[in-house]
Amino acid sequence: MNSRLWRGYMAIVSGSNAAELAAALAEEMEWEHHPLEVRRFPDSEGYVRVPQESIEAIRSEPVVIVATTFPDSGIVEALLMLESIHDVRRGDMSNLKGEGEQSLADAGPGIFLAVPYFGYSRQDKRFQRGEVVSAKLLARLLTRRCDGMIVLDLHAPAVLEDLEVPVEFVSSMPEIAIHLQNTVRPDFVLSPDKGAIERASHVANAIGCNFSYLEKTRIDAHTIEHKAKDLDVDGAIVAIVDDMISTGGTICKASDALRRQGAKAVHAACTHGLFTGGAITRLSNHVDGVHATDSLPNPRSVVSGAPAIARGVNSLIERVL
Ligand code: R5P
Repeated sequence: MNSRLWRGYMAIVSGSNAAELAAALAEEMEWEHHPLEVRRFPDSEGYVRVPQESIEAIRSEPVVIVATTFPDSGIVEALLMLESIHDVRRGDMSNLKGEGEQSLADAGPGIFLAVPYFGYSRQDKRFQRGEVVSAKLLARLLTRRCDGMIVLDLHAPAVLEDLEVPVEFVSSMPEIAIHLQNTVRPDFVLSPDKGAIERASHVANAIGCNFSYLEKTRIDAHTIEHKAKDLDVDGAIVAIVDDMISTGGTICKASDALRRQGAKAVHAACTHGLFTGGAITRLSNHVDGVHATDSLPNPRSVVSGAPAIARGVNSLIERVL
């Protein structure tokens, strides 16, 4: 990137699934938000267009595209957004209607993709012969048309090593810690499995409370088992902190273990609130509260992912621009 071209502003662009988060990011950074024109054809296929009024901004400043790659339609939309921004910045304006100039100068690199929730992140290994490492495939597709990527609370960052563009891994745990401290004031934070230890212990340290973790074995997508463990939670308010909640099975099992050991109240907090298959109802029978970010639209979104993504954008600017 020619740093002389960059004047300290960026255009924040969004499609259909992260418009509010993109607007919050734009406000946080004091940059302009440019929603793209996105719609669905009657057969459900997606359509993306850079509106005429956004073309100049997208060509004159580096661009951050905010796109959650979930559900599958979000992946296609992200790819369409990347391609449309890439064409506009490259100056390929050719169109059958013959509108405007057909070709403009190449604006050069400067496309960044911010992914609040990276769908398919959990298939990060080939567990059995013949499987696809979906997270890696998705990352390769998404980075084909960008110069850097920011990913919020990725399940297991190691899977995105070896990409051809820089990646910033950012976390909403600082904001989740502040929210928990202001609302439930936990005495104890629990990680429901070893994979969430780093995230959950960050929250415990920020709050200044005790911390422990459970050892979880996943039997299948709906069934997990926790190894029995003594936890010092008698009379305590406990927050279980994870990267995501899907069916809620992990949280419900962990909460049951905490209740058996005398926990007074149990709250669940996560970055990505998928809440699939009646998870909210299931959780309401096991925990006193559920707290998530807005990384994807969900009914328990109480923490903004924008500050974490802003940290990632700033780090990427320092590395790339
Ligand atoms: C897996 O290791 C993740 O960190 C979550 O614990 C898991 O995806 C949660 O899934 P569920 O809510 O279906 O138990």
